[in-house]
Amino acid sequence: MAIVYLTRVEKFNAAHKLWINSWTDEENFSYFGKCANKNWHGHNYTLYVTVKGIPDPLIGFVHDAKKLSKIIQEVVTDKLDHSNLNMDVDFIPEGMMPTTENMAVLIWEQLKPHIKGCILHCVRLQETDTIYAEYYGE
Ligand code: NI
Repeated sequence: MAIVYLTRVEKFNAAHKLWINSWTDEENFSYFGKCANKNWHGHNYTLYVTVKGIPDPLIGFVHDAKKLSKIIQEVVTDKLDHSNLNMDVDFIPEGMMPTTENMAVLIWEQLKPHIKGCILHCVRLQETDTIYAEYYGE
């Protein structure tokens, strides 16, 4: 049986700040660069959610892509879009750094209980053209 990987792409934009309170300003700016900007800044994020499974013999789908999109929007991107990731989102623990890496794990945890009939394989979150993080549930 052929196992196929299906990816749905969703977009959102959000503000954040990467900052460690116990560090000096100099340390924060040196480590986090522009992401430490005190008055916040935004990113245009692209989220890739990949599921895997055997295509249904009749329909030919691993997962209905429209339904997958709806799940992603309801449990993830509607909550993140136009938000402040440090302050506004119920599934981001207070004090957790909203890095691409941490966000990929949190998004996985949000999606996992909603994926039925196939397996959640990868959450890839792209923060800029040159940076993305992937989480495979390990
Ligand atoms: Ni940033």
